[in-house]
Amino acid sequence: MKITKPLNLAIIALAGFTFACGGGEKTSETTTTTPAAEAPAPEKEISLEEKYQDDPIYIKGLAKLKTSDCTSCHMVERKIVGPSYADVAAKYENTEENIDMLAKKVIEGGVGVWGEIPMPPHPTLSMEDARDMVSYVLLLKK
Ligand code: HEC
Repeated sequence: MKITKPLNLAIIALAGFTFACGGGEKTSETTTTTPAAEAPAPEKEISLEEKYQDDPIYIKGLAKLKTSDCTSCHMVERKIVGPSYADVAAKYENTEENIDMLAKKVIEGGVGVWGEIPMPPHPTLSMEDARDMVSYVLLLKK
């Protein structure tokens, strides 16, 4: 009791002193902390769709994909029946050979690379269309 009271007073006095003296400093302190708090998180995730939406290869490939049944088994960033396009893009280097190889696989169908579920063949697709679709898929790298 004897100790706390003067101590409280001392704290109040000190607080008053800091407030009185640091009035100017206080504001500068708040202005320095505010931008840090408002700074956009550098790790903010943007979707692959957003990342590549303006790329002509993206636009062309996606338009062609939409005319086929691809989206019923594939999503961009989530595995459903088939692997996500992002997983396919991460697995294969974006080379002419890989685009040819994967375009053939889309046309002929196949199984065993990603698991037990087969991809059905797409015999009505031209090699050019299949290549444009695969070029879109391989573009989707993180
Ligand atoms: C009925 C479901 C289904 C449809 C429809 C489908 N796929 Fe697939 N796709 C799969 C499966 C399952 C795999 C994995 C095959 C494997 O493991 O070898 C696959 C694999 C792939 C791969 C990777 C091949 C590899 O060897 O790594 C690509 C690229 C692909 N699909 C593109 C397409 C495109 C483009 C279309 C539309 C024209 C399409 N898929 C339609 C199910 C499907």
